[in-house]
Amino acid sequence: MSRQSGPAEKDISTYLKKQSGKTLLRFMTCGSVDDGKSTLIGRLLYDSKMIFDDQLLALENDSKKFGTQGQNIDFALLVDGLAAEREQGITIDVAYRFFTSDIREFIVADTPGHEQYTRNMATGASTADLAVVMIDARKGVLSQTKRHSFIASLFGIKHVILAINKMDLTGYDQNTYEKIVKEYYGFAAKLGFDEIVPIPMSALIGDNILSVSENTPWYTGPTLMGYLETVKISSELFEKSFRFPVQWVNRPNSKFRGFSGIVATGSISVGDKVVILPGGKNNVVKALCGPKGDLKQAIAGEAITLCMEDDVDVSRGDVITVASNRPEVTDQYQAHVVWMHDEPMLPGRSYLVKTMNRTIEGTITDLKHKININSLENENGKVLQLNEVGLVNFNLNRPIVFEPFHTNKALGSFIIIDKFTNATVGCGMIKFGLRRADNVHMQSVDVQKETRANQKHQKAKILWFTGLSGSGKSTIANLVEKKLHAMGKHTYLLDGDNIRHGLNKDLGFTDADRVENIRRVGEVASLMVDAGLIVLAAFISPFRAERQMVREMVDEGEFIEIFVDTPLEVCEERDVKGLYKKARAGDLKNFTGIDSPYEKPETAEIHVNTVDMTADEGAEVILSNI
Ligand code: ADX
Repeated sequence: MSRQSGPAEKDISTYLKKQSGKTLLRFMTCGSVDDGKSTLIGRLLYDSKMIFDDQLLALENDSKKFGTQGQNIDFALLVDGLAAEREQGITIDVAYRFFTSDIREFIVADTPGHEQYTRNMATGASTADLAVVMIDARKGVLSQTKRHSFIASLFGIKHVILAINKMDLTGYDQNTYEKIVKEYYGFAAKLGFDEIVPIPMSALIGDNILSVSENTPWYTGPTLMGYLETVKISSELFEKSFRFPVQWVNRPNSKFRGFSGIVATGSISVGDKVVILPGGKNNVVKALCGPKGDLKQAIAGEAITLCMEDDVDVSRGDVITVASNRPEVTDQYQAHVVWMHDEPMLPGRSYLVKTMNRTIEGTITDLKHKININSLENENGKVLQLNEVGLVNFNLNRPIVFEPFHTNKALGSFIIIDKFTNATVGCGMIKFGLRRADNVHMQSVDVQKETRANQKHQKAKILWFTGLSGSGKSTIANLVEKKLHAMGKHTYLLDGDNIRHGLNKDLGFTDADRVENIRRVGEVASLMVDAGLIVLAAFISPFRAERQMVREMVDEGEFIEIFVDTPLEVCEERDVKGLYKKARAGDLKNFTGIDSPYEKPETAEIHVNTVDMTADEGAEVILSNI
């Protein structure tokens, strides 16, 4: 690559003209500042003149003042400003940098390499086609090299440049280089990369970066830039089957009906046979419309409106695909998940799952195993913490159209969103659909919930008592049941301590176990509602999300949340079971209110204040409000 004009140049239009028609390569760099990553990126930016003149002047001055390279330019200073910010916690985002050569444009995702930034690395990897894995030739393959490579492979990156840097500090020793290459090949064999290209280099001196180095006469492979410029990648999107997720149903009048969106993969022509999923209806493409008018053919990446011969029902989130090769449709699948939030991932909790353009509620039913991202060993675990990776089973409320991630990144990836805060808490890559639900169908029955409840002269519902341990939930629920029973109502009381002696005796008091406790109780309570009963459920149920989950298991108006509001000090003072004393002494771990959280209800239907009321008064308040 020759050093060429960049945006700092005055004649911007000439510059832009020169850029047009170039292909774009997105890649990520993995490694730490110590490996020479900053120096490498700095050099690429400098040599492609992607630095403004004022930055260049500052760089020259700073290099003399603060640099580690004597009177020479210290390229690392270009990039390290951001690194310093990161260390102060100001920003831990991925820095995307742009540079260009005569042949290609590049976007490099510069991701921080430490383990606590795995989620940032995941973000960078998710859009990259290639990874530059940096190794300090003096140190060889480290556990962080393995971690970075694993994350790159997890996100479907197929091309790796093994940048064996600082060769100058080994005296350009061929043996050192070959030993590292051999070790890396051995380790990476199981990661499924298509191509690994090792390059001996010195980012500082410039060996094998832009031009072939005389210092490594034994090396016959490409230079870093030579490979980046020529590696074949982008066409792969077009080579895949046609997939078109509908973003918008365009119906300006009764005569026109088109479906708008961006072609995810493949290509389509007027006259092609298509199928609309998940419904499965067949159709034929009548017309294709691009931003500049009608098209005969549309390809991956293009924004189009597609019209069909027959007028069929298509909604936002449906996927139009070629009839000859269809993606799958499922409501259960197995996927790798990278957890990106401080709050751990809890199996049993309901999250929002956002695929390409559809958001559906879903639950992680099972954490099959965690993957230790340093050793790549599988490990047992019940939850995923921030930056952890695991293999999980998902169960969605509605089916999605998908393809395994390794076949189609666009249709195989999703993000996980917290229902309450709307924060993105994780991201995932689908491995395969689970077919276990395929042969299990809902059986229709003639005697319905209403019939059963009418026979009992009542309306079935759940009275859900939540509050701290010792708040009075069981006492009040017991009184309410007695009163209802005396009125001739058909009831059943599910009480935390009792259920934990039978159905849930395998569960403890970790967050994950509490989620599962409430999930099972919710299922049982909703069956009892179906049986026509008035169910009283008295559980601490400390998390808003699971109380909401049970609410959604039954019909509107059937879930009545009763907050038994007793302050911690009062519960602790009463300490009927002596558990607070034990918890304070440290003999009982994860005790609600002491070292385990309680999320107060914000919109409970009934609020019972046990400080100002007796239990009997509380029960009467409830009876008059249901
Ligand atoms: S929940 O949090 O999962 O909803 P649940 O209502 O089933 O709890 O059980 C709470 C009861 O278990 C408490 O009333 C108390 O008697 C007992 N218990 C034992 N250990 C704990 C603990 N660590 N935290 C809370 N309750 C505990």
